[in-house]
Amino acid sequence: MKVIVFFVAIIILGAEWQCNGSEHEHEHGHSYQIFPLRMKTGPGGHYIPEVSCKSWRLGVEAHNVIDWRTIPQDCEGYIGNYMLGHQYRSDSKTVCREAYFYAKTINITAKTTWVFDVDETTLSNLPYFADHGFGVELYNATAFNEWVDLGEAPALPESLKLYNKLLSLGIKIVFITGRPLYQQAVTATNLKLAGYYKWEKLITKDTDKYNGKTAVTYKSTERQKLEENGYNIIGNIGDQWSDILGTNTGLRTFKLPDPMYYIS
Ligand SMILES: *[C@@H]1O[C@H](CO)[C@@H](O)[C@H](O)[C@H]1NC(C)=O
Ligand SMILES: *[C@@H]1O[C@H](CO)[C@@H](O)[C@H](O)[C@H]1NC(C)=O
Ligand SMILES: [Mg+2]
Repeated sequence: MKVIVFFVAIIILGAEWQCNGSEHEHEHGHSYQIFPLRMKTGPGGHYIPEVSCKSWRLGVEAHNVIDWRTIPQDCEGYIGNYMLGHQYRSDSKTVCREAYFYAKTINITAKTTWVFDVDETTLSNLPYFADHGFGVELYNATAFNEWVDLGEAPALPESLKLYNKLLSLGIKIVFITGRPLYQQAVTATNLKLAGYYKWEKLITKDTDKYNGKTAVTYKSTERQKLEENGYNIIGNIGDQWSDILGTNTGLRTFKLPDPMYYIS
C-alpha cells in the first residue's frame, strides 16, 4: 500500500514539475523547484479550509499569530477535529516525552522544581470548548467560570504521565494558574479528582494585585518569588506563550499545543 502511494506521489510530483514551468536553473546546472503554495485549492480546484487552517495553527503555535480573540470562522471544523482527534494527543505526547527526557538529565535536589500551568496543560477544558465552537465563539467569562466551578475537568493524559514521572524523579511540582483566588479550592479538588494527588504549591491569581496586568507579568512575578525562596525551576510547561515568556522562566520551557484561545 505504502509503495503504491509512493509511486502515485512520484507521478503527481512529476506532472507538477512538468506543467509548472517555474523551476529555476541553478548556476551549476541543477534545477530547483519551490512548490507554489496552494492554500485555497484542492484537487478539484475548490476551497479547502483545512489547508489554510493548518497554516493558521502553525502560526499560532510558533507565536507568529498573536493577540487573537477567536479562531477563524472557517476553522471550527478543523480545530474541532484536531482537538478531539489523534493529532492533539500525539503533539502533546511529543512535548511531554521531551520534557521527561530532559528532566532525567538533571541532578535533582530538594529544591528542584517544575512549574505546570493548569488550563489546557494539566486539566483539559475540552468538554467546555466542544460545546462552544472550539474557540470560534468570543470568550464568555461567565459561562467558562460556571464550567470551571463544576470541578469536573479531566486531566490531559500526557501531562498527567509527565507529572507522575517528574514526581518519581523527586522533582517538586508547582502549579501557577491564571484562575482567580476564589477558584483555589475547586481547582485543588479538580486536580485531585483528575489524578494530580500532591504538589508543593498551587498558585492562583490575586486579581486585585494583578488587576490590569498581563499573564506574563503575573506568572513571572510568581516564579521570581519561588526562586527567591530557593526553588530551582528546571522546567516550565504551559499551553500559552504567556506561561513561558517573561522572567524566571525556568531552565527549559515546554509549549503544549492550544489553537483554541490566546492569553497575553
Ligand atoms: C550530576 O552529578 C554527577 C555526580 O555528582 C556529575 O558527574 C554530573 O556532572 C552532574 N550533572 C549535571 C548535569 O550537573
Ligand atoms: C455568557 O454565558 C452566560 C451563561 O451561560 C449567558 O447567560 C450569556 O448570555 C452569555 N453571554 C454571551 C454574550 O453569549
Ligand atoms: Mg493554560
